Order: sequence, then structure tokens, then C-alpha cells
Amino acid sequence: MRLDYQLSEASLGDLATALAPLLRQSEHALENPRHGDFPRWKAILDQLPTVTPQAKLNRASVLLGAPPTDQNALKTLLMGLHPWRKGPLELGGIKIDTEWHSDWKWGRLEKHIGDLQGQRILDIGCGNGYFGWRMLGAGAKLVIGIDPTLLFVMQYFACRHFAGSALANVVLPLGIEDLPAGLSGFDSVFSMGVFYHRRSPIEHLQRLRKLTRPGGRVVLETLVIEGDMDQVLMPANRYARMRNVWFLPSSAALCNWMQRAGFSSVECVDETTTTTAEQRSTAWMTFESLAESLQANDQSQTIEGYPAPRRAILVANN
Ligand SMILES: C[S@@+](CC[C@H](N)C(=O)[O-])C[C@H]1O[C@@H](n2cnc3c(N)ncnc32)[C@H](O)[C@@H]1O
Repeated sequence: MRLDYQLSEASLGDLATALAPLLRQSEHALENPRHGDFPRWKAILDQLPTVTPQAKLNRASVLLGAPPTDQNALKTLLMGLHPWRKGPLELGGIKIDTEWHSDWKWGRLEKHIGDLQGQRILDIGCGNGYFGWRMLGAGAKLVIGIDPTLLFVMQYFACRHFAGSALANVVLPLGIEDLPAGLSGFDSVFSMGVFYHRRSPIEHLQRLRKLTRPGGRVVLETLVIEGDMDQVLMPANRYARMRNVWFLPSSAALCNWMQRAGFSSVECVDETTTTTAEQRSTAWMTFESLAESLQANDQSQTIEGYPAPRRAILVANN
């Protein structure tokens, strides 16, 4: 399989000049991968059966590709790309029960993000691109996802194999820091599950704003705590066993931060405590999950004694 990114001029529009070097840079990174498992993942992609491309994107379990005859062989190949975290997905007839019910997050946000018809969207920290398929299903013209975790990029290529390369959802092996300083002009920019990993949260917000066209929308989804505008938690070390967690503000504090970063019409549209039904170990993600990060006798606390994960969705205009 060629790990390339072919997007039409029509879908790129006036972003073509800015995005073309990023697409080539991403292809180059995949030709010179820095990960010991990469040859194994690539061999899996190369063995995927040829099927009729198909895409049913407007459903909880994104369905891509017609089923090949040998379902057992395909299941074994796809299991080789374990752990599958974002979904659910149905690839070539194989139902992938992912760690996350990402469809539940989509359900919480879709009614608040406006009409995506014809939009060009940037999804920062997009994982395997699940939400990109949902955005295309909601009418987006182009979704540029970026994620530096190579396994998730390889899972994307497995999805694209079944979807066909005509669909304008890509996952580039890049972090937000790899985007050129002058890049701008997206109709909507999504940052979901990334903010609490940033050391400099206000800089992240300013970056999101710069990436968005004037009048465009930013959707920010992140961990929050309950409390008023003055409340913010910085864990001493790990949070719910996660390393590299920095700021968990209250949603009121986060609204203030977004306003101070220059956004207008900032609104917190959802706040939900994450349950062990939404994030859990499955046959396709056999490692420990949320349940093991909470206290056995008190699900309202993480094993470190912090409030259990609660996530907010904020929408704002540039
Ligand atoms: C908690 S997951 C969220 C995935 C998805 N957006 C969601 O909401 O379900 C965070 C993702 O951010 C990615 N990530 C880590 N560092 C990043 C960076 N510097 N820039 C962009 N994405 C990053 C990780 O690889 C991971 O896939």
C-alpha cells in the first residue's frame, strides 16, 4: 500500500499552497519512519484484501469497505494493529469494538458545532481519524487530521484502504508543533483530548485561534473539574495514571481563558463525567482502561485521589 495523501485541488481550495508541503513532509516521514514496529504494521497494510470501497459515515459505527470472503484472515490482520482506541468502526465487515465509544462524544457535540457543509476542518490530535469520517458524514469538504502517534496513522491507512482514497479525510503523522507558524484559514478547528497535555494552555488557545479563519469556529474538548472561575487543578504527578497532564480548569475558568485568548461567543455546551461504559477494555483494546484508573471503592476519585475524569466541550468563534 502506498502511504500517500492525494487530495483534489477542489477540496484543498485556497489552502492548497499551505498544505501541499505538509502533505509531502508527511509522506516523507512515513518513508523514513522512526518506530521499531513500523515494518510489521506496514506488512499488515500490504496484506489487506482488495475489496469494493464503501463508506457509510453517518452512523455510530463508521462502516468502511465491503466484506472480503475470508473474514477470519482480515480479523487477524486488523488485530495486529492493536490497540484500537477510537471508534466504533466496521472495516470490511469486521466490527471493531474500540476502547472508546467516540460516537457518544460525537453525539454530545454534533448539535452544537454548526453546519459543517462544505467546511475545511483541522482536527488536532485526531487519533485514527474516527471523527474525521463523522465530519465528512456531516458534510465537511476536507478534514485534515494530525496525530504524531504512528500506530494511529497506520490504523487510519487501514480505514482508508476500505473507504477508498477519494474521500477527503487524512491523518498526517504530525504534532501541532509541526504546523508552520503562518498556517491559517480553516473553517473549524477541533482540539479534543489534547489541551490537558499542553504545558502552555494559553499558547495552545492562541494557536487554535490563529489556525482558524476570521469568523471560523473552534471546538475544544478537554478534562475539567467542577468549580467556579477561580478553580484549576494541576496534578502533582500523574492524573488517572496518565503522565504529562498539566492543567484541568473548571469550565468557567476555561471560558475566561478562551475569552482572554481573544475568542468571542465562548460557550460551554456540554460537561459529562466519563463512565466506564464509555471508556473500557475490549477485545480490540485489551490493556487496562478507565476502571483501573479509578479507586475500586469510590468511582468518583482517580487512584491518585483527584476528581474522576469529567470532560467539557467549549465552542467559540474567532
Ligand atoms: C486523548 S487522545 C484524543 C483523541 C481524539 N481527539 C478524541 O477526542 O478522542 C489525544 C491524542 O493526541 C495525540 N497527540 C499527542 N501529542 C500531540 C501533539 N503534540 N499534537 C497533536 N496531537 C498530539 C495523541 O497521539 C492522541 O491520539
